[in-house]
Amino acid sequence: MCEASRKAAIVTGASSGIGEAIAERLLQMGYEVYGIGRHFDNERNMPERSHEIEKGTGSSGTGCGEPEAFHRIVCDLRETGKLLQIVREILKEPDISLKVLVNNAGTAYYGLHEELNPEKIGEMVRVNLEIPMILTQQLLRTLKKNKGDIINISSVTAISSNPHGVAYGATKAGLLSFSRSLFDEARKYGVGVTAIMPDMTETNLYRNADFEADPAMDAHLTPEDVADAVEYALTAREGTCVPEIILRPQLHRIRKK
Ligand SMILES: NC(=O)c1ccc[n+]([C@@H]2O[C@H](COP(=O)([O-])OP(=O)(O)OC[C@H]3O[C@@H](n4cnc5c(N)ncnc54)[C@H](OP(=O)(O)O)[C@@H]3O)[C@@H](O)[C@H]2O)c1
Repeated sequence: MCEASRKAAIVTGASSGIGEAIAERLLQMGYEVYGIGRHFDNERNMPERSHEIEKGTGSSGTGCGEPEAFHRIVCDLRETGKLLQIVREILKEPDISLKVLVNNAGTAYYGLHEELNPEKIGEMVRVNLEIPMILTQQLLRTLKKNKGDIINISSVTAISSNPHGVAYGATKAGLLSFSRSLFDEARKYGVGVTAIMPDMTETNLYRNADFEADPAMDAHLTPEDVADAVEYALTAREGTCVPEIILRPQLHRIRKK
C-alpha cells in the first residue's frame, strides 16, 4: 500500500561540501531529498539511489512502488526560469509533503574589494542572497501549510567585519537579516526559520582564496558538524524554535596556501 505522503526536503548546493552532508543527513532522517547543483561528480554515497530531473522539464517520476530517496537536480540556480519550473514540478509530485527548504548553495570570491569585478559580485549576491529569497517566496505557502522549516546557511562572516571578503560577508549578513525577519513573519504559522552561521569548514569553498581551513581537527569544522546543527534545529521539540546557530571550532586559525 502506498504511503499517503512522504516528507520531502529541497537542498540547494547538494553536490558538494556542507550541502552534500546535509542531504545525506536528511536521507538518514527519512526525508526524500531533492538536491540541486551543477556538478554531481563527487558523490560519496548517493549514486545508486540518485537520478536526475531533466533540466527543468522532466519529472522525477517518483511514485508508490519503490520511491527514490535522493533526486539529483542539475541546475544552475542563476537560471531563474528553469529553477521555478523545477520547483513547480516538485510541488506537483502527488505523494510528497514538502517539509524542509535548505538554502545552502553559495559562492565566494576573496581579495581586496577593488580586485573583484562586477560579475563576481553579481554572482555572490545572486547565489548567496537573491536565490534563497526567491526560493523561499515560491515555497512559503506550501511550507506554512505543512508547518515546515527553512534553514539558511549563512556564515560567521554575517556577524563580523570581513576584510578581503567584504562582498561575500555582506551577502551572508543579508541572508541573516532575511532569516531574522522571516522568522518573525512566519513563526505564527508554525514555520521554523533557522540561520546557521558556521565558521571555517573544510570544503572547496576556498578554491578562489589564498587561504584555507587549518587541517587540525580543532581548528576547522566539518560538513557533518553543520549537518548536526541542521538535525538539531529540525528535531527541536514541537512548540520551540531554533532561530540561530553559531558554530565555531575550538581554535581560531587559518592556513595560507
Ligand atoms: N566552507 C566554509 O568555511 C563555510 C563557512 C560558512 C558558511 N559556508 C556556506 O556554506 C554553503 C556551502 O558551501 P561549502 O562550504 O559546502 O562549499 P562548496 O563545497 O563549494 O559548495 C557550494 C555548493 O553550492 C553550489 N552552487 C554554487 N553556485 C551554484 C549555482 N550557480 N547553481 C547551483 N549550485 C551552485 C555548488 O554546486 P555546484 O558546484 O555543483 O554548482 C556546491 O554544491 C555556502 O553557502 C557557504 O557560503 C561555508
